[in-house]
Amino acid sequence: MDPTHNTPQKAAGRLASVMQEDRVFPPPLEFSKQAKIGSLEDYQRIYDEAARDPDGFWHARAQSLPWMTPYTKVLDWNPPDAKWFVGGRTNASAACLDQHIAAGRGDKIAIVWVGEPVGERREISYRQLHAEVCQFAAGLSQLGVKAGEVVSIYMPMTPELVIAMLACARIGAVHSVIFGGFSSEAIADRNHDAKAVAVITADGGWRRGAALPLKKNVDEALNKPAIDGPQTVKHVVVLKRTGQPVEMVPGRDVWWHDLVAGMPTDTPPVAMDSEAPLFILYTSGSTGKPKGIKHTTAGYLVWAKTTAEWVFDLREDDLFWCTADCGWITGHTYVTYGPLAAGASILIYEGAPNAPNEGRFWEIIEQEKPTIFYTAPTAIRSFMKWGMQHIQGRDLSSLRLLGTVGEGINPEAWIWYHEVIGGKRCPIVDTWWQTETGGIMMSPLPGCTPTKPGSCTLPLPGVCPEVVDAAGNPVDQGEGGWLVLTQPWPGMLRGIWGDDERFRETYWSRVPGKYLAGDNARQDADGYYWIMGRIDDVLNVAGHRLSTIEIESALVSHPAVAEAAAVGRPHDVKGEAVAVFVTLSSGEPGDALKDALRKHVRQQIGALAVPDDIHFAAVLPKTRSGKIMRRLLRDVAAGRETVGDTTTLEDYTVLAKLRDDD
Ligand code: WT7
Repeated sequence: MDPTHNTPQKAAGRLASVMQEDRVFPPPLEFSKQAKIGSLEDYQRIYDEAARDPDGFWHARAQSLPWMTPYTKVLDWNPPDAKWFVGGRTNASAACLDQHIAAGRGDKIAIVWVGEPVGERREISYRQLHAEVCQFAAGLSQLGVKAGEVVSIYMPMTPELVIAMLACARIGAVHSVIFGGFSSEAIADRNHDAKAVAVITADGGWRRGAALPLKKNVDEALNKPAIDGPQTVKHVVVLKRTGQPVEMVPGRDVWWHDLVAGMPTDTPPVAMDSEAPLFILYTSGSTGKPKGIKHTTAGYLVWAKTTAEWVFDLREDDLFWCTADCGWITGHTYVTYGPLAAGASILIYEGAPNAPNEGRFWEIIEQEKPTIFYTAPTAIRSFMKWGMQHIQGRDLSSLRLLGTVGEGINPEAWIWYHEVIGGKRCPIVDTWWQTETGGIMMSPLPGCTPTKPGSCTLPLPGVCPEVVDAAGNPVDQGEGGWLVLTQPWPGMLRGIWGDDERFRETYWSRVPGKYLAGDNARQDADGYYWIMGRIDDVLNVAGHRLSTIEIESALVSHPAVAEAAAVGRPHDVKGEAVAVFVTLSSGEPGDALKDALRKHVRQQIGALAVPDDIHFAAVLPKTRSGKIMRRLLRDVAAGRETVGDTTTLEDYTVLAKLRDDD
């Protein structure tokens, strides 16, 4: 084993060899000249500094937070429990707002917002954002929301979504943002698990010209019979967005504009412990219901801000467009907390990339002139499919840096992104990270890291990856294995909401003492990391994490279904598509039942989980010990294996007999 293999050591020395390889893109010279980290030597020096003295390194970076009480210790590490900046008190909304105003930057634009209906646009300065956050924070306090209580947020991508997050942070309430595409069932589950005391929503939101029934979904969630114990949600705050009719329940529901009317614009931020939860965000795991990933205040903010500055090389005049919805971690860290803590200007677009037509993003870029554009490979593949006619003639010259996140990017899409959107002048940062890591962990630094399409390249300073085998031993360079992180970092998750056991079991038990990311990875001869997909039954559909078990549970809750198995199959735009195999206890196989099952999954989870393919089976192929043979089903779903004569009810047991090896 190469003893240096889990550090990027000698990266600088390797530069020559990297450059000789095919398909290696050196950072554009013009970019490097102006970048804050402009050479691999600089990167190496910072990386080494963080490795040599992590406490000193993070102490220096934490100085940019507004400390109300200084911490007494940088890190308290009892694996898997980390406490960062122990004993300190600060406030996330003060870090994102007050300190910029105090520094005389109150007139700087914080948010440029573009609504889906053409022509709708708002600009909000840091001073205005601060005032609106203060008013809404005061409104929440008036409703009785207290520090430490959970508030669910189920909103369209309007500035008020960011305001709601920051207002919760201001009073120390823990936000739990629920993506607007999730169903009422999913809202009910999350409210219940987190014991949310309030829900912030909107009448609706625009998506491809249609108004989403957000308030109606919240009503349905709150009207469901209590799961166990009484309904915890006491208040619903409703933003008027689309103007569609909604029912307001007296005593429970209040309009946003009524709540903030007359509220003070200078509500003081509450001094929160460094380790006080800032938010929880639900994500799918390989077992059971989605888990509430817990992030805390100070460490998360330091990570969000530092990584935003490193990876996006943020400058005073940047306008940063991260296309993610705040319903996902990318929206938390690189729409809200990272760029705002760094004092940057962000661009938010409410709607779909193809509304009113497939050229919408390029029109927005031409008009708003963002300098940094951060999106997902699935979106890039859609743009490629939609064709050049939507891009030709658009002025994209404001862009200086491009990023991707959510899944590995296939080299064709990378090259297309580089040439067509980046005009060959913009570096591309392929950023690997997870809901659990809080922020980016591996990524090129745009001013210095030569990139290879498809690789997230090297770890950021403070990140110590290792590729190990099932016994936890590092594999040889070039070999595939499980990706683990061997050292704590400030932005790491602090647990699963209400389930310490699951936290330990999921992330820390299979490779004791190390964080198990759940991805397979390989390091190439240059030390670059290549992510090779999940090690568990988690799918990545259009950059969204989905659990096969969740989809299966949704299906078997339908009266016609006896058994179900969900697997992923390759899809040229979404990366993976959902294929399900079901056996029936009643009902007739056919298109009507397929429709009913799709509708059912949409109701149980949300549109993003709706199966692309439904196969009706007589029986599911199982091993002798009764385990469903997923590998076989994946082959069938991908068309790599066929069952010859496919009658209405397919019989996979024939194949199973041939391959009882899963
Ligand atoms: C999983 C995390 C991080 C925000 C969006 C997704 C996959 C993410 C990459 C990348 C290859 C990637 C991994 C990871 N993933 N980024 N650049 N290259 N794979 O967050 O829902 O928590 O999913 O997404 O499998 O574990 P998430």
